[in-house]
Amino acid sequence: MLIHKAFTLTDINNTAGKFYIETYGCQMNFSDSEVVASILSDNGYTLTRSIDEADIILVNTCSIRENAETRVWGRLDVYRLQKKEKPSVLIGVLGCMAERLKEKLLSKEKLVDIVVGPDAYRDLPTLLQSAKEGQEGINVLLSREETYADINPVRLDKNGVSAFVSIMRGCNNMCTYCVVPYVRGAERSRDPETIIREVKELINNGYKEVTLLGQNVDSYNWVNGENKKVGFAELLEMVAKVDHNIRVRFSTSHPKDLSDDVLYTMAMYENICDHIHLPVQSGSSRVLDLMNRGYSREYYMGRIEAIRRILPSSTISTDMITGFCAETEEDHEQTLSLMEWVGYDFAYMFKYSERPNTKAARRMQDDVPEDVKARRLTEIIELQNKLSEESKKKDIGKRFKVLVEGVSKKSDEQFYGRTSQNKVVVFPKEDSKIGDYVFVKVHESTQATLIGTISKS
Ligand code: SAH
Ligand code: SF4
Ligand code: F3S
Repeated sequence: MLIHKAFTLTDINNTAGKFYIETYGCQMNFSDSEVVASILSDNGYTLTRSIDEADIILVNTCSIRENAETRVWGRLDVYRLQKKEKPSVLIGVLGCMAERLKEKLLSKEKLVDIVVGPDAYRDLPTLLQSAKEGQEGINVLLSREETYADINPVRLDKNGVSAFVSIMRGCNNMCTYCVVPYVRGAERSRDPETIIREVKELINNGYKEVTLLGQNVDSYNWVNGENKKVGFAELLEMVAKVDHNIRVRFSTSHPKDLSDDVLYTMAMYENICDHIHLPVQSGSSRVLDLMNRGYSREYYMGRIEAIRRILPSSTISTDMITGFCAETEEDHEQTLSLMEWVGYDFAYMFKYSERPNTKAARRMQDDVPEDVKARRLTEIIELQNKLSEESKKKDIGKRFKVLVEGVSKKSDEQFYGRTSQNKVVVFPKEDSKIGDYVFVKVHESTQATLIGTISKS
């Protein structure tokens, strides 16, 4: 299979034009932008980090909640001004909003020139060419096979230490509130050989940490010609074995599919990080059923107990939706009590946002009033702040192996890095370098970070 040569800013001759790309949404979208950058650079386009220099402005978009889309509309207004100054600029909308809104985006006062869905990025050079010739270009076909397996992504984040590796695309779960299955299509797994090859390439380029990405990594399932099956636990082991000095993380696990095999694999390899992101969405079995999550409160608690038993030092984070259709005060209380019971180390918390054409939008009433949603959200955020603080306080006095990721925002004299448990630590640099592992003793904590010093013994 063809592997595209890694791209450096110096070896491209600028023939086709300069592109600027902005990304919204989840890690998978960030990973996709790296695929887009690779496809375009292989076709003679040059990446620019300055919007003023760009001949092509691309925005990779998210549809998960209404406010995600509102932000993109705001950006399109900014690009409009850019186009006024330089009418030859081409504007492309990529990603989930492109998939959801399709040609509706093209009718937007002739602002948008191309619209490209998440499975159609290989078509970008052709679409850009027709846009240059004055035609609008659109490709929003979803695919059952596309995984961009052979494409070697251009790394857009600059830390050079940790990178995302997509292991699958799409989602088959059909949670009733969620737009992802509609905008990302059916689930498909990427050939493990190409995943391992990408990880090796990253290591050769000095990377120290990879995060394997999928909407539901536990259902990763690759079947090759001879019917040999690779599941997620096996893939995780294959990646961990590539180099014991490379940290491995993954996201997102699904409570209904997280297996003990995965937990035992994590326990077996020191370099698989001790952190699980296990989105629960609600603490009420009744609401979980309405959400079609495929598990109950009790089943979820059983999975947490398995994590505590098999991986006692693991941290656990979650996603929570508050104010879903028909959520009562009692359901909300159950969410609060589950959060307290688990003692989450971290959480992303959202107000339910109805997405057009999802099952919840078609069949259920978005009947929790806005002020009630807002109040419930405040309550879960306040509780989580307390839990996050407690989680950090527990680390005071302990020593952790930390991967140095960069210079602290607050002081040039300090580095920041993360523990295996995914907590950010800030400490004086001493003689350490970005990309090193150091042992840090934690002395204090703030809401978001641990603070410590390097401790050699
Ligand atoms: N595949 C992952 C996460 C996908 S989207 C999973 O199943 O857990 C990330 C998070 O956005 C979800 O976990 C959920 O908490 C939130 N989310 C998804 N749809 C939403 C909606 N309509 N309104 C509010 N939050 C939503
Ligand atoms: Fe959406 Fe559910 Fe799939 Fe996650 S598992 S992407 S929440 S449908
Ligand atoms: Fe958003 Fe699409 Fe990710 S809707 S959350 S960018 S899969």
